[in-house]
Amino acid sequence: DSSAHISQLPTEIMLRLLRYLGPEDLCRCSQVCSSWLDLAKTGSLWRHLYPVRWARGDYYSAPPGDLDQEPGEEWVKSRQNEGRAYQEWDEDADVDESDESGRARGSPAIDTAQREKRLLNGIIQNLLPAVGPSVKSIVLAYSSTVSSKMVRQILGFCPNITHLDLTQTDVTDCAFDSWSSLGGCLSLEHLDLSGCEKITDHSMMKLSVGLGDLTSSTCFDQRSDRRAKLLKSPPIPIALTEARKNPAGRQRQALVFKPGPDRWGAVAACTPTQVWVLDPADLADIEDAADWSRRGGTSLPDAESFVETQLVGSSCCCRRSRRRGGYRTGSSASFLHRQYALGELFCGHSACCTGDAALRTFAGPPCESGSTRSGAAEFRTKCSSFGGRRCPERQHRTGGSEATRSLRFLSLSGCYQVTDLGLRALSQRGGLPYLEHLNLSGCLFITDVGLRELVSACPALNDEHFYYCDNISGPHADTASGCQNLQCGFRACCRSGE
Ligand code: FES
Repeated sequence: DSSAHISQLPTEIMLRLLRYLGPEDLCRCSQVCSSWLDLAKTGSLWRHLYPVRWARGDYYSAPPGDLDQEPGEEWVKSRQNEGRAYQEWDEDADVDESDESGRARGSPAIDTAQREKRLLNGIIQNLLPAVGPSVKSIVLAYSSTVSSKMVRQILGFCPNITHLDLTQTDVTDCAFDSWSSLGGCLSLEHLDLSGCEKITDHSMMKLSVGLGDLTSSTCFDQRSDRRAKLLKSPPIPIALTEARKNPAGRQRQALVFKPGPDRWGAVAACTPTQVWVLDPADLADIEDAADWSRRGGTSLPDAESFVETQLVGSSCCCRRSRRRGGYRTGSSASFLHRQYALGELFCGHSACCTGDAALRTFAGPPCESGSTRSGAAEFRTKCSSFGGRRCPERQHRTGGSEATRSLRFLSLSGCYQVTDLGLRALSQRGGLPYLEHLNLSGCLFITDVGLRELVSACPALNDEHFYYCDNISGPHADTASGCQNLQCGFRACCRSGE
């Protein structure tokens, strides 16, 4: 009999098929039956979330690599109008929220915003509790409806997030409460808060704590603990009910470890004798197994095959102008710049240019010591194209924890309430050793003192991607880029209207 029902396919095959589907189709699949619902809630299927786009019929779900360009002003205005219309409608509505049918239908803009809000609530209530730890990217830029509470819930479910875009949203400091604990966002590499005008220094402090502490020997990292358990414990069984029906059996599934790319060879100072890099496709299987294991294995009752991890040798985790216009009056907006008292002790700049054992990596042999900081920065830039991973030059003094403070992109454009205190918070705990892109355009209350302090703790900062107010005579004045908000009609700038 050559015919076979789709339910007879092994779980891994089903998952491979589901990976070709977008979020809309995955949701449809989840409505077929309970076992498909379980499959659809597998973490590796939901790595990159774009609720704002999804609510508008764009079901993009790839990594957010090409999304760094700013949208047109017209598009931004239409999103703002949409948000305003929704808020007015929401405030005027005096009908019970739960009775959606009783509420008058609004304009298309209001309908879109409602759809977005329903989608966000659905994601928070139904999806993230199951897949949160696997989520890497969340893009909520220009959302009409996202609230600080929603962001707080989302971040609470997603401790391993690497990319967060909250551009031009209405969030406040309390959105980042889950980052108030040490190591709350250890994996974060990209944070865009452009246009978030309610953000203050408190968010910078929470961010700094959440990124971990390079100067401490302690790291309270649940994610690290979880990974450590995953990697050190006996193999996690993936039970395949279908496998029992397969006369050939599926006793074991060995993961494939591939040699690292040749580019490693160019990095002489950090090249270990043998480099092995896990194939991303197979890593998904490991994480799926852990995901199912967390859920209690209810859908995967018996062990008939195993994910076998064999670590071969040691691994190494290698892993966006306008020039400043020179229009520096130094006085036209100086009244806006306040000098803040230095209330906290400065604990020291980034003395360590090391990376650390990162996601799914293992302690490699120590590299040659004696590299200069600038050399390390150059090296990181070279490696940055390789999946965002970095090569550790040596094990960090945290004793193998994952506190790398690996933030590479930070935009506070238009966050005018951020002051030198916020910049100081970021420069503490080891600074931001991997930060390449820093946008402080429209931060009206920062001064050259705060800028210099932060920049001294960011050895990898690329001047081409370093933006701040043209009226500040700050660090790298001749090479850094100028304020990006001069021509922007919707973000703070001390010279808007000139
Ligand atoms: Fe001063 Fe834009 S914030 S030039």
